Amino acid sequence: MPLVSSKALLLKAYEGNYAIGAFNVNNMEIIQGIIEGATEVNAPIIIQVSAGARKYAKQEYLRHLVNAGLESTDIPIALHLDHGEDFEICKACVDGGFTSVMIDGSKYSFEDNIRITKQVVDYAHEKGVQVEAELGKLAGIEDNISVEEKDAIFTDPDQAVEFVEKTGVDSLAIAIGTSHGAYKFKGEPKLDFERLEKIQAKLPGLPLVLHGSSSVPEDLVAICNNFGADIPGARGVPESMIEKAAKEYKICKVNIDTDLRLAFTGQIRKFLKENPSVFDPRKYLGPARNAIKEVIIRKIKILGSDGKA
Ligand code: G3H
Ligand code: 13P
Ligand code: ZN
Repeated sequence: MPLVSSKALLLKAYEGNYAIGAFNVNNMEIIQGIIEGATEVNAPIIIQVSAGARKYAKQEYLRHLVNAGLESTDIPIALHLDHGEDFEICKACVDGGFTSVMIDGSKYSFEDNIRITKQVVDYAHEKGVQVEAELGKLAGIEDNISVEEKDAIFTDPDQAVEFVEKTGVDSLAIAIGTSHGAYKFKGEPKLDFERLEKIQAKLPGLPLVLHGSSSVPEDLVAICNNFGADIPGARGVPESMIEKAAKEYKICKVNIDTDLRLAFTGQIRKFLKENPSVFDPRKYLGPARNAIKEVIIRKIKILGSDGKA
């Protein structure tokens, strides 16, 4: 099966009250682990490539690797640009066979974010490619964040309506307390579900996206730390909150990268520490690939997309 449109996957998820896992890739083993895991539980997935991944592995390599993966599975897979920072990178991915792109204008003013997003939407839609945009800022938050601070960082529901009307985006990434990386909360993890509900009510039918959704599971961090890593005090979004966002609050796309990195690196560290005389990359990349597969299965079950392919 060729790559599929992410919009079709997201709309189906919206109707079915589950979320599609959107997983970041940087190399062959990560791509293989993701596809093997999703195939085992029969789930549709989005494979996404960041600007950094493009720079590291080259867009063409990643696209061809994903296309190679399609030959060994029947699950629907969409290929997505993650956090495109300008029109040019989005255009390069639209022209390069991606089925959706994200334009991330969240660092700009509201007006400039609308302008740059609309430019990408006009170009991408012409070519049948869907667009995700972001409104609000993904920042690590303190336990005692004030209402004013929250309003300045998190997505404003009324602005979200105006943004979607003026840009014609197909999906919207929102800020409700998640952030990227392994250090998401200084105090207790907390997401602004009330705000999410308001955005949802004002934009019925529009798939919403949750970035920064890694849970930084203790077991994965422990494997890294037990074998030489130094990742103290890492904290993610509890799996119960991700499940709630997906199954009760109609979040349709959930972005996960950090947990894959932890799983991959943990197994490499473990293998090399336990087998100091081995230097065949296949010997340590194989277990790392298996670890990706296991994490993917665990995530997909939390999102409720298993059996939805
Ligand atoms: O949103 C960020 C993703 O985790 C990608 O990270 O820019 O280091 O590839 P990266
Ligand atoms: P994590 O860092 O929580 O995995 O988030 C990844 C992400 O949002 C990619 O766009
Ligand atoms: Zn992100």
